[in-house]
Amino acid sequence: MFEICRQLEWDSQFFEQRIARIECERLTSTQLAQVLKWCEEQRIDCLYFLCTPEDNDSVLLAERAGFHFVDIRIELNWNVEPQSLSLDTTIREFHESDLAALRKIASQVYGNTRFSYDNRFSADRVSKLYQEWLIQSCQNPLHKVFVATCEIGEHGDEDGIAGFITCQFDDPEIGRIGLLGLDDNAQGKGLGRLLVQTAQQFFNSAGAHEVRVVTQGRNIPAQRLYQRRGFRTQKVGLWYHKWF
Ligand SMILES: CC(C)(COP(=O)(O)OP(=O)(O)OC[C@H]1O[C@@H](n2cnc3c(N)ncnc32)[C@H](O)[C@@H]1OP(=O)(O)O)[C@@H](O)C(=O)NCCC(=O)NCCS
Repeated sequence: MFEICRQLEWDSQFFEQRIARIECERLTSTQLAQVLKWCEEQRIDCLYFLCTPEDNDSVLLAERAGFHFVDIRIELNWNVEPQSLSLDTTIREFHESDLAALRKIASQVYGNTRFSYDNRFSADRVSKLYQEWLIQSCQNPLHKVFVATCEIGEHGDEDGIAGFITCQFDDPEIGRIGLLGLDDNAQGKGLGRLLVQTAQQFFNSAGAHEVRVVTQGRNIPAQRLYQRRGFRTQKVGLWYHKWF
């Protein structure tokens, strides 16, 4: 490790490639030269760079060095306000027996992320990545997962599970929505809104002051959903991947 770059152990192991990340959001030409030298020494296969859109020099440097633009990272936040309690019985807490159905949904609905748009990661591996994130959240006692249910067969599925939302904390006052996903057949029916509303109620009752969520620039449905529920854009970043 040197101060600008860090190898990502988890990503490297998961993708079976040596993956590293640039730790700062701006680069000078001197830093870039150091980064490329370090990557060569460390035999890095793929380097992630989350660049601020405000620094055109960094964008130009990255582009000239062969970094490929893969996504716009959009972080939204919501300042917690008391929520009227929903009596909707469509949403409930996660049970262990839901996991297989949730994994199936997670394997199918994340086609617009930076990993999916980077052709060097196989679709199968990317699908497994989201399943893995979901499993980790479901198994983490510090996370809370809510599930949207439907009548069996109502949305064309066989298990009565329509979708999920995962909730965690960055610190005791800052909540974070991790993964949100609805089965293809259950989208556009108001269940995403109900899941986000349930997460908001949960964070309010848990004493959070702020809730954050990250989505993709390409994901207009998710952005509109969060905006509808009172979230506002807080930070934008440009994701680049460079393969060696
Ligand atoms: C994004 C997603 C969670 C939305 O859930 P949903 O149940 O389909 O959305 P809802 O029916 O509850 O709609 C709620 C709001 O979302 C927005 N929305 C939902 N689908 C939309 C679409 N296809 N186009 C534009 N806006 C859309 C709208 O603002 C809508 O509110 P409005 O109708 O009052 O304007 C769902 O489509 C999904 O699972 N997509 C794939 C996975 C994903 O992208 N997850 C989020 C990753 S951060």
